[in-house]
Amino acid sequence: MKAIRIGLLGAGTVAGGVVKVLERNRAEIQRRAGRGIDVAAVAARDLAKARRSLGDAVALTDDFDALVRRADIDIVVELIGGTSRARELVLAAIAAGKPVVTANKALLAIHGTEIFAAARERGVAVGFEAAVAGGIPIIKTLREGLAANHIGWIAGIINGTTNFILSEMRSKGLDFAAVLAEAQRLGYAEADPSFDIEGIDAAHKATIMSAIAFGTPVQFERAHVEGIAGLQAADIRYAEQLGYRIKLLGITKRREDAQGATVGIELRVHPTLIPAKRLIANVEGAMNAVVVHGDAVGSTLHYGKGAGAEPTGSAVVADLMDVTRLITADPDHRVPALAFQPHALAATPVLAIDETITAFYLRLRVADEAGVLADITRILAEHSISIDAVLQRESGEGERQTDLVILTHDTLEGRMRAALAKMQALGSVLAPIVRIRKEELA
Ligand code: NDP
Ligand code: HSE
Repeated sequence: MKAIRIGLLGAGTVAGGVVKVLERNRAEIQRRAGRGIDVAAVAARDLAKARRSLGDAVALTDDFDALVRRADIDIVVELIGGTSRARELVLAAIAAGKPVVTANKALLAIHGTEIFAAARERGVAVGFEAAVAGGIPIIKTLREGLAANHIGWIAGIINGTTNFILSEMRSKGLDFAAVLAEAQRLGYAEADPSFDIEGIDAAHKATIMSAIAFGTPVQFERAHVEGIAGLQAADIRYAEQLGYRIKLLGITKRREDAQGATVGIELRVHPTLIPAKRLIANVEGAMNAVVVHGDAVGSTLHYGKGAGAEPTGSAVVADLMDVTRLITADPDHRVPALAFQPHALAATPVLAIDETITAFYLRLRVADEAGVLADITRILAEHSISIDAVLQRESGEGERQTDLVILTHDTLEGRMRAALAKMQALGSVLAPIVRIRKEELA
């Protein structure tokens, strides 16, 4: 059968990985997909740079708009990133009847509803395995492997750059800026690394997983997002003493009423204390890991490289092979992009952060005097917040202040916010209270 011809948009890190994997594993890919997959052309805005990074074997063009419409292109692969030009090109490809494969989580988290609707109308597939957790096939797992389950929650380390930074800071005591520069050098970080540091990239990925797990449209604008820039070394140390690690987690949870009906979805990204004994707490460096909890299967852990040229290329090429197999299949009988049939998507809302339920780690810099602990525990009790553990650092000789660390049980975030305001107003609390959410992931 005639080989499938792809048009690649972009000639950066991931494009390089795709070209290499397709070339190196050509014969095996053909045996699996039933047809060969050839790179017909790569569109790049700097042709000399693209030639240097991709070699002489691929045809180059600087006309992106023509490439997505070319009659001899069967599948368009979008690897330029961003949400504006990428959106235009992806929609143009779909309008021209081309299936699209993309690694662009920002694009799908923000414009997914429009793109999936356009693709459905035109009867073409959109593959996006590489958009979440790089080389880990988590999209296929959620959409197909775990399709029998009522999914309760997903929690993942889904940003390699921040996990790399947190790991290096914890194990080598390196400073933030040096580790970030190394992550950029290794090709993990986004073009704008603030997307990684501020948790936005992880929120894009959590948004996509949430939609697939719970059968809703993508709702990125409702996600609660906090990054790692404010994390202090002292909290990483106290967490260790209490048997926890701090990770930037993307979390999405189903909330049900007493009858078991879904009333809302939690969708949040923030630094999180997790018990050091959990496997996911030991995921280090740029590695990613996602725990999915389903009612039938229980908890499953999916681990692997979440970034880098070839791991991401692996996911892009797997999508190309899927689309290749599907190209002649009836569009109505394909696996739906968001796992649920389009007419069966639910309008379940993402809950406001105050309505989410989680446990907390609190660190208070307090005056070392009688009655301080009693005042604080009274305020927590008044807000029905139950304490799990308390740690008080021994004061040094002559010191008149100390750190008080408190772990709470699960509570409504809104209650904790109100309690924090009261505690912060105490004269004995000497600095802004640090609060980090805590998940047992049991
Ligand atoms: P790079 O920055 O390495 O490459 C992007 C390529 O697209 C470059 O050739 C760049 O050209 C080109 N480009 C960027 N903006 C435009 C534009 N507006 N018009 C035309 N060309 C443009 O990015 P990556 O390969 O790392 O990432 C590509 C996509 O894959 C992104 O969506 C990213 O989020 C996603 N991704 C990346 C992973 C990784 O490990 N790197 C992992 C998973 C997903 P120029 O060189 O001229 O700037
Ligand atoms: N910047 C992303 C990360 C790339 O660090 O995980 C993979 O999506």
